[in-house]
Amino acid sequence: MAHWPTEWPPFLWGAATSSHQIEGGQTNDWTRWEDSGRGTEPSGRAAGHWELWESDFELMSRLGLNSYRFSLEWSRINPQPDVFDHHALARYRQMAERLRTLHITPLLTLHHFTLPQWVADRGGFLHPDAARWFTRYVDQVMDALGDQIDLYVTINEPLVLVVMGYLMGLWPPGAHGFRRAFALIRRLAEVHRAAYEAVKAKKPTAWVGLAHHVIAFHPWQPTPWDRATAALLHYLMNRRFVRMAEPWQDFIGINYYTRQYGHWSKGLHPIQSRSGIPVSDLGWEIYPEGLGEVLAQVGRYQKPILITENGIATQNDALRIQYLKSHLKVVEQAQLDGLPVRGYFHWSLLDNFEWAEGFSPRFGLVGVDYATLKRTPRASASAYEAIIRANQGLYPINVP
Ligand code: BGC
Repeated sequence: MAHWPTEWPPFLWGAATSSHQIEGGQTNDWTRWEDSGRGTEPSGRAAGHWELWESDFELMSRLGLNSYRFSLEWSRINPQPDVFDHHALARYRQMAERLRTLHITPLLTLHHFTLPQWVADRGGFLHPDAARWFTRYVDQVMDALGDQIDLYVTINEPLVLVVMGYLMGLWPPGAHGFRRAFALIRRLAEVHRAAYEAVKAKKPTAWVGLAHHVIAFHPWQPTPWDRATAALLHYLMNRRFVRMAEPWQDFIGINYYTRQYGHWSKGLHPIQSRSGIPVSDLGWEIYPEGLGEVLAQVGRYQKPILITENGIATQNDALRIQYLKSHLKVVEQAQLDGLPVRGYFHWSLLDNFEWAEGFSPRFGLVGVDYATLKRTPRASASAYEAIIRANQGLYPINVP
């Protein structure tokens, strides 16, 4: 197993965001989708982070975070096929530099769900040149800020992109169909590999991985059919892509939120929750043990593991504190069991634009008033801060 570099914090205490969800002022495939009325509402200025990034970073520093996962907006950097916006690149470089000055290790996501419109118009990642377009963008990013960043996620949640956009049609491009969906899975694995190699070519010491959306799938009933359905969902959603991309991941990134159930009744019917079990405002079951289950499953790859996202949409901040602590407790136990979990990124730093659901779900440690853009740290931010401060330099972590 690769050694965790001694110059990095022994455990990354972070929060995660993505460009489209917080920056505001985008022109990408999602804004077009929103403007055509297919989303809930337009993302507009989102959380205004493109203007307010400096004070947001100071806030993070006051909360004691030693790491931050954020994404670059491909459409900002590369708005037309042969146009690269050097002002946008310079701004992202400034951000990376500032994070380092604040002793916050940046983890950079290169693609988090959105595409430049010109890429979307040509068929998105399904276009035969997509890997080339993407690596050209990655090359520009590496030239502009690669010296500032050691940790990279190439693609956020490839399977979610496929399921939401190409099977269920709930996200752009609004497609339904197995053939294209399966072709896209293969293509995304190729794009990942190409991006992995592009980053490494410019910076051989970089660590590069993916952020996989992993759900704890259980059978709905203890019947052979439901067991087989849960196992199939686990294989298709959680395992297949990790395995396809296995040699090109220096760490395994996991986004864990919830449990779902496999159920078979004249077809495959995933079920989101069982009555009597607490859920988030989005109806997602709160099931911290599932994080332990998925960590044990990815332990087989013998690579450092980062929890690249974990969090809850809720208006009840006491519930967020409980969610945070119970999931961190699972991380502590996993480390005691010998699993190399090296970081935790809470989703999210700020309330933000939640894709098809718009602004109503509140995922932030810090609340955002969308009328004024005022930030108000919640009690959960203080709770997280207290845990981080008590854990300076500690590995394994210790969660009260
Ligand atoms: C995504 C985020 C999203 C979060 C909560 C993850 O699937 O990476 O963009 O906001 O979950 O739904």
